[in-house]
Amino acid sequence: MDQIAYVNGSFVPLSEAKVSVLDRGFLFADGIYEVAAVLDGKLIDNASHLARLERSVGEIALALPETIARIEEIQKELVKRNALINGMVYLEVTRGADKSRDFAFPKGVKPTLIMFTSVKNIVDAPSAKTGIDVITLPDIRWVRRDIKSVALLAQVLAKQAAAEAGAAEAWMIEDGKVTEGGSSSAFILTRDDVIVTRQNGSEILPGCTRKAVVKLAEEHQLRVEERAFSIDEALAAKEAFITSATVFVQAVVRIDGKKIADGKPGPMTNRLRQIYVDFAKATAT
Ligand code: PDD
Repeated sequence: MDQIAYVNGSFVPLSEAKVSVLDRGFLFADGIYEVAAVLDGKLIDNASHLARLERSVGEIALALPETIARIEEIQKELVKRNALINGMVYLEVTRGADKSRDFAFPKGVKPTLIMFTSVKNIVDAPSAKTGIDVITLPDIRWVRRDIKSVALLAQVLAKQAAAEAGAAEAWMIEDGKVTEGGSSSAFILTRDDVIVTRQNGSEILPGCTRKAVVKLAEEHQLRVEERAFSIDEALAAKEAFITSATVFVQAVVRIDGKKIADGKPGPMTNRLRQIYVDFAKATAT
Protein backbone atom coordinates (compact mmCIF):
# COMPACT_ATOMS: atom_id res chain seq x y z
CA MET A 1 0.00 0.00 0.00
CA ASP A 2 1.24 3.47 -0.88
CA GLN A 3 2.35 5.56 2.08
CA ILE A 4 0.41 8.70 2.85
CA ALA A 5 2.16 12.06 2.76
CA TYR A 6 1.01 15.55 3.71
CA VAL A 7 1.33 18.42 1.22
CA ASN A 8 -0.01 21.91 1.90
CA GLY A 9 -3.23 20.96 3.65
CA SER A 10 -3.93 17.57 2.05
CA PHE A 11 -3.14 13.97 2.88
CA VAL A 12 -2.24 12.24 -0.39
CA PRO A 13 -0.54 9.01 -1.54
CA LEU A 14 3.25 9.55 -1.43
CA SER A 15 3.56 8.83 -5.17
CA GLU A 16 1.18 11.73 -5.84
CA ALA A 17 2.76 14.14 -3.33
CA LYS A 18 4.23 16.94 -5.43
CA VAL A 19 5.43 20.54 -5.23
CA SER A 20 6.14 23.06 -7.99
CA VAL A 21 9.48 23.18 -9.87
CA LEU A 22 9.47 26.85 -8.79
CA ASP A 23 9.42 25.88 -5.13
CA ARG A 24 12.21 27.77 -3.39
CA GLY A 25 13.20 24.70 -1.46
CA PHE A 26 14.04 23.10 -4.82
CA LEU A 27 15.59 26.21 -6.45
CA PHE A 28 17.50 27.75 -3.53
CA ALA A 29 17.41 25.25 -0.63
CA ASP A 30 15.35 28.05 0.95
CA GLY A 31 13.78 25.83 3.58
CA ILE A 32 14.02 24.20 6.97
CA TYR A 33 13.44 20.58 8.00
CA GLU A 34 13.01 18.42 11.07
CA VAL A 35 13.13 14.69 11.71
CA ALA A 36 11.41 13.21 14.77
CA ALA A 37 11.59 9.53 15.69
CA VAL A 38 8.53 7.36 16.29
CA LEU A 39 8.57 4.51 18.82
CA ASP A 40 5.54 2.32 19.42
CA GLY A 41 3.45 4.77 17.37
CA LYS A 42 4.48 7.81 19.43
CA LEU A 43 6.71 10.81 18.70
CA ILE A 44 10.01 11.06 20.56
CA ASP A 45 11.20 14.35 22.11
CA ASN A 46 8.94 16.12 19.62
CA ALA A 47 8.56 19.35 21.61
CA SER A 48 12.32 19.80 21.32
CA HIS A 49 12.20 19.27 17.54
CA LEU A 50 9.31 21.72 17.15
CA ALA A 51 11.10 24.31 19.30
CA ARG A 52 14.15 23.99 17.05
CA LEU A 53 11.88 24.28 13.98
CA GLU A 54 10.51 27.57 15.32
CA ARG A 55 14.02 28.83 15.98
CA SER A 56 15.32 27.78 12.54
CA VAL A 57 12.46 29.43 10.62
CA GLY A 58 12.88 32.55 12.78
CA GLU A 59 16.57 32.76 11.85
CA ILE A 60 15.68 32.92 8.13
CA ALA A 61 12.53 35.08 8.57
CA LEU A 62 10.25 32.34 7.25
CA ALA A 63 6.71 32.35 8.69
CA LEU A 64 5.28 28.88 9.34
CA PRO A 65 2.07 28.31 7.35
CA GLU A 66 0.50 26.50 10.33
CA THR A 67 0.72 26.86 14.09
CA ILE A 68 3.07 24.57 16.00
CA ALA A 69 0.02 22.93 17.58
CA ARG A 70 -1.45 22.21 14.13
CA ILE A 71 1.92 20.90 12.85
CA GLU A 72 1.99 18.47 15.77
CA GLU A 73 -1.56 17.38 14.94
CA ILE A 74 -0.56 16.72 11.33
CA GLN A 75 2.51 14.71 12.44
CA LYS A 76 0.27 12.55 14.63
CA GLU A 77 -2.38 12.18 11.93
CA LEU A 78 0.31 11.02 9.49
CA VAL A 79 1.65 8.45 11.97
CA LYS A 80 -1.92 7.17 12.35
CA ARG A 81 -2.76 7.12 8.64
CA ASN A 82 0.45 5.18 7.89
CA ALA A 83 -0.07 2.85 10.88
CA LEU A 84 3.55 3.69 11.71
CA ILE A 85 4.93 1.78 14.71
CA ASN A 86 8.68 2.49 14.54
CA GLY A 87 10.37 5.01 12.29
CA MET A 88 10.33 8.74 11.78
CA VAL A 89 8.35 11.70 10.57
CA TYR A 90 10.15 14.05 8.18
CA LEU A 91 8.80 17.57 7.82
CA GLU A 92 9.94 20.41 5.62
CA VAL A 93 8.84 23.99 5.23
CA THR A 94 10.05 26.16 2.38
CA ARG A 95 9.44 29.77 1.33
CA GLY A 96 7.01 28.46 -1.29
CA ALA A 97 6.76 28.81 -5.07
CA ASP A 98 6.69 32.23 -6.69
CA LYS A 99 6.01 32.94 -10.40
CA SER A 100 9.69 33.23 -11.27
CA ARG A 101 13.17 32.70 -9.85
CA ASP A 102 13.89 35.85 -7.84
CA PHE A 103 16.50 35.52 -5.10
CA ALA A 104 14.91 38.00 -2.70
CA PHE A 105 11.88 36.86 -0.67
CA PRO A 106 8.68 36.82 -2.76
CA LYS A 107 5.67 38.79 -1.51
CA GLY A 108 2.32 37.15 -0.81
CA VAL A 109 3.57 33.61 -1.39
CA LYS A 110 2.40 30.91 1.02
CA PRO A 111 5.18 28.72 2.40
CA THR A 112 5.18 25.05 1.41
CA LEU A 113 4.71 22.48 4.18
CA ILE A 114 5.23 18.80 3.47
CA MET A 115 5.59 15.72 5.67
CA PHE A 116 6.11 12.01 5.14
CA THR A 117 7.00 9.05 7.30
CA SER A 118 9.46 6.19 6.96
CA VAL A 119 9.86 2.89 8.77
CA LYS A 120 12.95 2.13 10.88
CA ASN A 121 13.46 -0.01 13.93
CA ILE A 122 15.82 2.32 15.80
CA VAL A 123 15.88 0.42 19.09
CA ASP A 124 16.79 -2.95 17.54
CA ALA A 125 19.02 -1.66 14.72
CA PRO A 126 21.89 -4.17 14.18
CA SER A 127 24.45 -1.32 14.15
CA ALA A 128 23.46 -0.49 17.73
CA LYS A 129 25.08 -3.79 18.78
CA THR A 130 28.12 -3.70 16.51
CA GLY A 131 28.85 0.03 16.50
CA ILE A 132 29.77 1.92 13.35
CA ASP A 133 32.80 3.12 11.44
CA VAL A 134 33.27 6.80 10.75
CA ILE A 135 35.60 8.56 8.35
CA THR A 136 36.88 12.11 8.72
CA LEU A 137 36.93 14.92 6.20
CA PRO A 138 37.07 18.70 6.13
CA ASP A 139 33.91 20.56 7.14
CA ILE A 140 33.09 22.52 3.99
CA ARG A 141 29.64 23.77 5.09
CA TRP A 142 28.43 27.35 5.44
CA VAL A 143 28.86 29.19 8.75
CA ARG A 144 25.24 28.96 10.06
CA ARG A 145 25.09 25.25 10.83
CA ASP A 146 22.87 25.99 13.83
CA ILE A 147 20.00 26.48 11.34
CA LYS A 148 18.49 23.16 10.25
CA SER A 149 18.40 24.15 6.61
CA VAL A 150 17.73 21.77 3.72
CA ALA A 151 21.01 22.89 2.10
CA LEU A 152 22.67 19.53 2.73
CA LEU A 153 25.03 19.12 -0.23
CA ALA A 154 28.17 19.07 1.94
CA GLN A 155 26.61 16.34 4.09
CA VAL A 156 25.49 14.40 1.00
CA LEU A 157 29.09 14.39 -0.28
CA ALA A 158 30.48 13.54 3.17
CA LYS A 159 28.07 10.66 3.70
CA GLN A 160 28.67 9.36 0.16
CA ALA A 161 32.43 9.32 0.86
CA ALA A 162 31.66 7.45 4.10
CA ALA A 163 29.46 4.92 2.28
CA GLU A 164 32.19 4.34 -0.32
CA ALA A 165 34.65 3.67 2.52
CA GLY A 166 32.23 1.22 4.17
CA ALA A 167 31.50 3.66 7.01
CA ALA A 168 28.12 4.80 8.31
CA GLU A 169 28.99 8.38 9.20
CA ALA A 170 31.49 11.13 8.42
CA TRP A 171 32.95 13.33 11.14
CA MET A 172 33.69 16.78 9.81
CA ILE A 173 36.85 18.61 10.89
CA GLU A 174 37.45 22.35 11.18
CA ASP A 175 40.60 23.96 12.60
CA GLY A 176 41.79 20.54 13.77
CA LYS A 177 38.63 19.81 15.78
CA VAL A 178 35.55 17.70 15.10
CA THR A 179 32.45 19.77 14.47
CA GLU A 180 29.85 16.97 14.15
CA GLY A 181 28.71 14.07 12.00
CA GLY A 182 27.02 14.47 8.62
CA SER A 183 23.67 13.87 10.31
CA SER A 184 24.54 13.38 13.98
CA SER A 185 26.28 14.92 17.00
CA ALA A 186 29.72 13.57 17.99
CA PHE A 187 30.82 12.46 21.47
CA ILE A 188 33.83 10.82 23.14
CA LEU A 189 34.46 9.38 26.61
CA THR A 190 37.91 10.37 27.84
CA ARG A 191 40.34 8.10 29.74
CA ASP A 192 39.19 9.75 32.97
CA ASP A 193 35.50 9.13 32.21
CA VAL A 194 34.42 12.57 31.05
CA ILE A 195 31.76 12.65 28.33
CA VAL A 196 32.86 15.29 25.83
CA THR A 197 30.78 16.87 23.06
CA ARG A 198 31.30 20.14 21.23
CA GLN A 199 29.57 23.18 22.71
CA ASN A 200 26.61 24.59 20.78
CA GLY A 201 27.27 27.56 18.52
CA SER A 202 26.98 28.42 14.85
CA GLU A 203 29.53 25.66 14.02
CA ILE A 204 27.08 22.82 14.74
CA LEU A 205 23.41 21.95 14.76
CA PRO A 206 22.07 21.99 18.33
CA GLY A 207 21.04 18.32 18.33
CA CYS A 208 17.84 17.48 20.20
CA THR A 209 19.20 14.04 21.11
CA ARG A 210 22.51 15.63 22.15
CA LYS A 211 20.63 18.01 24.45
CA ALA A 212 18.61 15.20 26.04
CA VAL A 213 21.66 12.94 26.45
CA VAL A 214 23.71 15.70 28.10
CA LYS A 215 20.86 16.42 30.53
CA LEU A 216 20.26 12.72 31.29
CA ALA A 217 24.00 12.11 31.81
CA GLU A 218 24.18 14.99 34.29
CA GLU A 219 21.08 13.71 36.09
CA HIS A 220 22.89 10.37 36.45
CA GLN A 221 25.89 12.17 38.03
CA LEU A 222 28.08 11.52 34.99
CA ARG A 223 30.70 14.13 34.13
CA VAL A 224 30.04 16.09 30.93
CA GLU A 225 32.24 18.71 29.28
CA GLU A 226 30.99 20.72 26.32
CA ARG A 227 34.08 21.55 24.29
CA ALA A 228 35.69 20.75 20.96
CA PHE A 229 37.92 17.66 20.61
CA SER A 230 40.43 16.48 17.99
CA ILE A 231 40.61 13.17 16.13
CA ASP A 232 43.81 12.31 18.07
CA GLU A 233 41.85 12.75 21.28
CA ALA A 234 39.00 10.62 19.91
CA LEU A 235 41.44 7.85 18.89
CA ALA A 236 42.94 7.86 22.38
CA ALA A 237 39.50 7.88 24.03
CA LYS A 238 37.85 5.03 25.90
CA GLU A 239 34.72 5.27 23.79
CA ALA A 240 33.12 7.34 21.07
CA PHE A 241 29.51 7.64 19.95
CA ILE A 242 27.03 9.64 17.94
CA THR A 243 23.51 10.82 18.72
CA SER A 244 20.58 11.72 16.49
CA ALA A 245 16.82 11.30 16.23
CA THR A 246 17.31 8.42 13.79
CA VAL A 247 19.94 6.41 15.72
CA PHE A 248 19.47 7.63 19.33
CA VAL A 249 22.89 6.78 20.82
CA GLN A 250 25.21 4.68 18.68
CA ALA A 251 28.79 3.54 19.31
CA VAL A 252 31.61 4.58 16.98
CA VAL A 253 34.16 1.74 16.99
CA ARG A 254 36.60 2.84 14.27
CA ILE A 255 37.71 6.21 12.92
CA ASP A 256 39.40 6.16 9.49
CA GLY A 257 39.91 2.41 9.96
CA LYS A 258 41.63 2.80 13.37
CA LYS A 259 40.04 1.05 16.34
CA ILE A 260 38.88 2.93 19.40
CA ALA A 261 39.89 0.88 22.47
CA ASP A 262 39.01 -2.77 21.68
CA GLY A 263 36.83 -1.86 18.68
CA LYS A 264 33.57 -2.74 20.41
CA PRO A 265 30.74 -0.56 21.81
CA GLY A 266 31.79 0.41 25.34
CA PRO A 267 29.83 0.19 28.59
CA MET A 268 29.20 3.94 28.88
CA THR A 269 27.77 4.13 25.35
CA ASN A 270 25.55 1.13 26.03
CA ARG A 271 24.42 2.67 29.31
CA LEU A 272 23.63 6.05 27.77
CA ARG A 273 21.77 4.33 24.94
CA GLN A 274 19.61 2.47 27.48
CA ILE A 275 19.05 5.65 29.52
CA TYR A 276 17.97 7.47 26.35
CA VAL A 277 15.64 4.65 25.20
CA ASP A 278 14.02 4.64 28.66
CA PHE A 279 13.61 8.44 28.52
CA ALA A 280 12.19 8.22 24.96
CA LYS A 281 9.62 5.62 25.93
CA ALA A 282 8.65 7.43 29.11
CA THR A 283 8.14 10.81 27.43
CA ALA A 284 6.77 9.79 23.99
CA THR A 285 3.68 11.70 22.87
N1 PDD B 1 19.99 14.91 11.31
N2 PDD B 1 23.96 17.31 13.34
C1 PDD B 1 23.48 17.30 12.08
C2 PDD B 1 24.26 17.99 11.01
C3 PDD B 1 22.25 16.67 11.80
O1 PDD B 1 21.78 16.68 10.53
C4 PDD B 1 21.54 16.02 12.84
C5 PDD B 1 20.23 15.34 12.60
C6 PDD B 1 22.09 16.04 14.13
C7 PDD B 1 21.40 15.42 15.29
O2 PDD B 1 20.26 16.17 15.66
P1 PDD B 1 19.02 15.48 16.37
O3 PDD B 1 19.53 14.78 17.58
O4 PDD B 1 18.15 16.62 16.72
O5 PDD B 1 18.44 14.53 15.37
C8 PDD B 1 23.29 16.71 14.35
C9 PDD B 1 18.71 14.30 10.96
C10 PDD B 1 18.38 13.09 11.77
C11 PDD B 1 18.71 14.05 9.47
O6 PDD B 1 19.22 14.90 8.77
O7 PDD B 1 18.18 13.03 9.03
